[in-house]
Order: sequence, then structure tokens, then C-alpha cells
Amino acid sequence: MDLKNKVALVTGAGVRLGQSIAVRLAQLGMRVIIHYHQSEKGAKQTAKLTNGGNYQHFVIQANLKDISSIKMLVRKSEEKLGPISVLINNAADFFPTPFFSTNEEDWNHLFEINLKAPFFLSQSVAKNMKKQGEGKIINLADVSVDRPWTGFLPYCASKAGLCSLTKGLARTLAPEIQVNAIAPGTVLPPPNHSEMDIVSSVENSLLKRIGSSEDIVNAVEYLLKSDFVTGTILPVDGGRSIH
Ligand SMILES: NC(=O)c1ccc[n+]([C@@H]2O[C@H](COP(=O)([O-])OP(=O)(O)OC[C@H]3O[C@@H](n4cnc5c(N)ncnc54)[C@H](OP(=O)(O)O)[C@@H]3O)[C@@H](O)[C@H]2O)c1
Repeated sequence: MDLKNKVALVTGAGVRLGQSIAVRLAQLGMRVIIHYHQSEKGAKQTAKLTNGGNYQHFVIQANLKDISSIKMLVRKSEEKLGPISVLINNAADFFPTPFFSTNEEDWNHLFEINLKAPFFLSQSVAKNMKKQGEGKIINLADVSVDRPWTGFLPYCASKAGLCSLTKGLARTLAPEIQVNAIAPGTVLPPPNHSEMDIVSSVENSLLKRIGSSEDIVNAVEYLLKSDFVTGTILPVDGGRSIH
């Protein structure tokens, strides 16, 4: 796909990985829909960082737990910038859920944002992608999908579901739309990660370091530029998944 001037929606683009992905897509000449939920300031900063070129971008708020908000997000974005060619399902939530104290609310929350939202976002953009004859969807999964972490089972299960969804969408939406996932290892530890958590991420990798947002953004760029790859889960984890 020629990326120049095409429209990309990046969810959770006001902070961290989502922001870095949005900035790279803008550098590649795409017009970017910068979605945020609570990080309005961050989203405005992303817009500033993407405004180096002459391209048009659009900042929009939505709670992705709600299907009507997802539909509103896609409708308003397409009204503003035209049909979406690239969807990056980056938004997610992550917190510990010790087995015996996990409640239904925790479970539903993690599945709604991590799995239900990517499904309905894909559904909302796919018709126009099919009409255009091309489209790419990239889902941000996690290194933990094959060896789930105790203490984080709903998160890991939601991301494992996202990998299954990636393959299912690739089959459903071919040949026009390519759907892939990236499974990052630790690249940007959450702010509440202890020094010990980071040491353990390093020790549990083959390359003996944590990654950077750049490593993930490079993988996104690779998948966007590859026209013969679909239904794959690309680990970008310093070898942690096979350690
Ligand atoms: N960071 C890592 O090392 C790492 C490792 C493995 C996998 N990943 C995956 O990579 C992706 C990005 O990671 P990250 O660490 O940059 O994520 P993050 O800092 O936790 O950011 C999460 C994003 O999701 C958005 N979000 C959360 N709840 C939402 C809701 N209800 N509606 C809409 N948006 C919502 C947030 O938006 P607001 O801030 O605007 O509220 C935020 O932009 C995630 O899918 C994560 O699971 C990251």
C-alpha cells in the first residue's frame, strides 16, 4: 500500500507507544486520527509532534468500552479526513488481577478495552477498506500470550484472544485487508513497575535488555510496508517468548 496521504487511526495516541506510532505514521506521510480517552494534553502534544509536515491530522476523544462511541469515533473521523486505510489497535489497559481477588468488573473492563474494542473498531472500518480495495489493521498484543503471567490472567487471556482475533480477521477480511499483530516484550514499563520487575524482564529475555518504543514502531512500519504478510503475530520481545 502506498501510505502517502492515506488516513490512519491510532487508538490511545496521547501517550507512550500510541504517541510514538502516530508520530511515525505522520512522518511516513499519513494523515493521522489521534484518538485519546483521558490524555487530552498528551493527544494535543501528539498533534504538535505530527504537524511538522503539511499533512492534516485530527484529534478525537472516545471511550472505547462503548460500542456507540466506537461508531461515533469512526464516523466523525471519516467525515473529517475521509476513509480510514490503516487501523492501529493500540489502546489497552493493564493491571494486576490476583486470582482469588479478581472480580467481574476487572474481567469485563480488561476484555472490553483489550478485545471487544479492537473487534468493533475493525468492524467499523472494514467496509470502507473493502470498498477502497485495501486496508491494514495492526493489533498490539503482548509477549505473555503463550505463557500467561500468574496474577494477570484476564489481561493475558484478553491479549491471547486478540491474537486469535487477528488470525480470524485476516481470514475474514482477505484479500483486500491485511491483519497482523505485534507481541511486544517489555518496552516501556508501566510507571508502577519496580526496579525488580525490570531486572526480571531483562533476565527473562535472550538479548538481555528491555526494548524501546522505536523497536515497536519499526515493526509497525514493516507491517504497513509489507503487502504479503497477513494473519501473523510478530514477537518483538528480545527473545523473551522463547527464553
Ligand atoms: N509498554 C509495553 O512495554 C508493552 C508491552 C507489551 C504490550 N504492550 C501493548 O502495547 C500497547 C501500548 O502500550 P502502552 O504501554 O503504551 O499503553 P498505556 O501506556 O497503558 O496506554 C494505554 C492507552 O490506552 C488508552 N485507553 C485506556 N483505556 C481506554 C478506554 N476505556 N477508551 C479508550 N482508550 C483507552 C489510553 O488512553 P488515555 O491515556 O487517553 O486515557 C492510553 O492511550 C498496549 O496495547 C499494550 O498492551 C505494551
